[in-house]
Amino acid sequence: MTTFVILRSLKTWLLVLTKTTVHDCPVIHLPQIQTEAGGITSLNGNINIPFSIKRIYYLYDVPGGAERGGHAHQCLHQLIVAGSGSFDVLIDDGLNKKVVSLNRPYHGLLVVPGIWRELLNFSSGAICLVLASELYSEGDYLRDYNLFRDLKSK
Ligand code: TYD
Repeated sequence: MTTFVILRSLKTWLLVLTKTTVHDCPVIHLPQIQTEAGGITSLNGNINIPFSIKRIYYLYDVPGGAERGGHAHQCLHQLIVAGSGSFDVLIDDGLNKKVVSLNRPYHGLLVVPGIWRELLNFSSGAICLVLASELYSEGDYLRDYNLFRDLKSK
């Protein structure tokens, strides 16, 4: 019974990982509260974004010309927001590639598991805010592009 459950979970995991495409990664228009003194965007897990938030991290002081990312995740869902400034996110499902420009703090790119991403063209002072569905785990990363392509072609 336990073996059966483990095998079924493994199959589900492999199906999710291999079948996701760039079309599963929409830009979500986040709620905005406008006041005379500026805007507020409040994000509630499982309400405004389709996962519960376990971790938040942000990239800053990115030198001109630097590129970040260059990996995919096996289980992690993320919402990527330009908290300040702008940058491009290249998403790739092994077959299709798409470049999404983020430059508004109320636009969030949802990146589902099994999508290769690269972040580039950071403006000076840009802050890339990332809401993540899981705690940090190096074991969740796929950092070898050829291995990623092989997995996606299964
Ligand atoms: P990585 O995710 O590869 O950075 P990026 O995709 O932005 O280029 O992470 C860079 C380093 O930071 C790596 O050594 C792992 C570490 N790290 C953590 O310790 N915790 C975290 O939550 C994240 C995102 C990274």
